[in-house]
Amino acid sequence: MSNRVPKEWQEEVSQVLFDKVTIQKRIGELGKQLSADYQSRKPVLLGVLTGSFVFLADLIRAMTCDLEIRFMRAISYKGTESTGNVTIEGLEFLNIESRDVILVEDIVDTGLTLKWICDKLEELKPKSLKICTFLSKKTNKRRPDVPQIDYVGFECEDQFVVGYGFDCDQRLRQLDFVGIYNTNR
Ligand code: XMP
Ligand code: MG
Repeated sequence: MSNRVPKEWQEEVSQVLFDKVTIQKRIGELGKQLSADYQSRKPVLLGVLTGSFVFLADLIRAMTCDLEIRFMRAISYKGTESTGNVTIEGLEFLNIESRDVILVEDIVDTGLTLKWICDKLEELKPKSLKICTFLSKKTNKRRPDVPQIDYVGFECEDQFVVGYGFDCDQRLRQLDFVGIYNTNR
């Protein structure tokens, strides 16, 4: 595994957490598993914008079963941790009634966003709803009412990550690795 942060990002990224090769290997495994689980079911992969778009793009190219893609948007507001609020956009045209849906998330932290999204999606009456997240944070802030996560790329420590879709103020999403953001700049 290559742990060196490329020179141009060294000021902002303190450490490589998952490098390109490690990520692509894991996505290959996930793609294989999902293809086997959803053979002949033409699942709808529903990406949560913005963070999941890189993961989703790689994941579908690792899948061999017939599938469809949709996107929605979730914006979390965390004024205080216990009374967080989530705004969800793009549900109107999802058309997922009676479909096998795989929700594709970038990261589950407290699980607040995931809980809100799943509650809304259940109202649209999918045939099934499974959750696939690229990262799952090991945190003691995980809420007890978070839906079960069915497919996880990697577990990570409770640190702020950037790259591979993850941003800091909308930047750094294009990195082909996941790194830890340097908060001491
Ligand atoms: P909750 O707490 O609702 O948070 O599970 C999930 C959402 O918070 C964002 N998030 C991050 N974004 N680096 C990021 O770029 C991080 O380390 C991180 N942790 C949480 C993300 O939008 C996710 O959907
Ligand atoms: Mg997000």
